[in-house]
Parts: sequence; structure tokens; C-alpha cells
Amino acid sequence: MENKIISIAPSVLAADFVNMEQGIRKIEDASCEWIHLDIMDGSFVPPITFGHQMVKSIRNITDLILDAHLMIDNPGNQLDALAEAGADYVAVHLENTIHTDRIINRIKELGMKAGIAIVPSTPVSALSELLPVVDQVLVMTVNPGYGGQKMIPRCLDKIKQLDDIRKEYGYEYLISADGGINRETASAVRDAGIDVAVCGSSFFNAEDSPAEVRIIQGIE
Ligand code: DX5
Ligand code: ZN
Repeated sequence: MENKIISIAPSVLAADFVNMEQGIRKIEDASCEWIHLDIMDGSFVPPITFGHQMVKSIRNITDLILDAHLMIDNPGNQLDALAEAGADYVAVHLENTIHTDRIINRIKELGMKAGIAIVPSTPVSALSELLPVVDQVLVMTVNPGYGGQKMIPRCLDKIKQLDDIRKEYGYEYLISADGGINRETASAVRDAGIDVAVCGSSFFNAEDSPAEVRIIQGIE
């Protein structure tokens, strides 16, 4: 069991895109430090969301940590624009990117924190060469593409493995979990050893988002 308080990263995927500023203020009002930005291209995953222009518009109105999750093919093409837009973290998927080591290096060269994301069918062992160099591992706890899905519980074992490896080797990556995190699933996710919980529908559909955040953090 961990005693640390996890951070909540609300995903604007569940916000009203026409009233994005309202969504951002809601995140700030709930005292969250992170905003999760799901960038989808209609190829790696079927939906299309938004790109660097939206990231820049959000950067212009908030100082919170902008955590971009790229569910896109050819993620290397977007890195310069995302850096210019003001993203803080950029996570690319292992599954569709051959030169992940080069991409991780490039993200860091551009002054951002580099994350690697894995879908539910990808094992932790596939990350062995990257764990020493990444700043964040984003463990998807649903299949990517859609908010509001049910968590796949076996993904929590991967979080435990990543936490154990981190302790054993002294690695410094943050572990984020993404998908299906709500008041019912939160304690299992916390106990697995995460640092950041991405919450889309549970945050934006809550009647009282600040209270929901504290419940998911396990402090209320
Ligand atoms: C799914 C996205 C998630 C999504 C999570 O592909 O990566 O970030 O917004 O939404 P919920 O919390 O509703 O599962
Ligand atoms: Zn995401």
C-alpha cells in the first residue's frame, strides 16, 4: 500500500469542446494540477479530436501541466508543434512507432517530458529498453479511442510491475493510468502504485467535481 496522494489529470475528451474554457476552469476549481489532452487522428484510433492548435489555446489560458497523449500515427511529425504550443508532457504509443528511442530523445531535446504509452495488450516487458530514459509511463486501462469505458482490471498488474521495476532499478518515471477510473475502481488503481490518474467521464460527469477528485484520491 502506498501513502502518497495521487494526482488527478482530468481529460478534456469528456468536456464540451464548444466551451473548452469552462472545462479548464472546472479542472482548476477542483485544484487539479494536470490536464490530460487526448489527441486522436482517426487512424491509430477511429475518432479524431484536436491537435496542437487546441493545445496552444489551452496553454494561453492556464498554467496547469499539459499532458498530451498522442493516439496518432507518425507522432514524430507533431513534436515541434506541440513544443511550440506549450505542452509539458508528450506520450507516444509504443505499438505504432518503430523509432521510439529517437522520438523520446526528441521530445526531451524540445524541452518537454517524454512519456511512453501502452495499450492493454502490450506487456511491460516490451518497455524494458525505454524505462531508463522515459519520464512517464502511461498505462492504458481501457482500449484507446473512447471515454466512458469499463476498466480492464488485469492492466493493474502491469502498474504493479512498473512500480516494482522502478523501485528495484531506481528509475524515475511517473506512472499514469488512463481509462475507466472512477470512485469504484480508484482504490485498486491507487494500490497498484500510480502517481497520476487520468479521469475523463468520472470528473466531467460528477455533480461535485472537487469532491469526486478527493474521493478518487482516497482522501474523502
Ligand atoms: C481514451 C483516452 C482517455 C479517456 C479516459 O482513449 O485516452 O484519456 O479520456 O476517459 P474515461 O476516464 O472516461 O475512461
Ligand atoms: Zn488518454
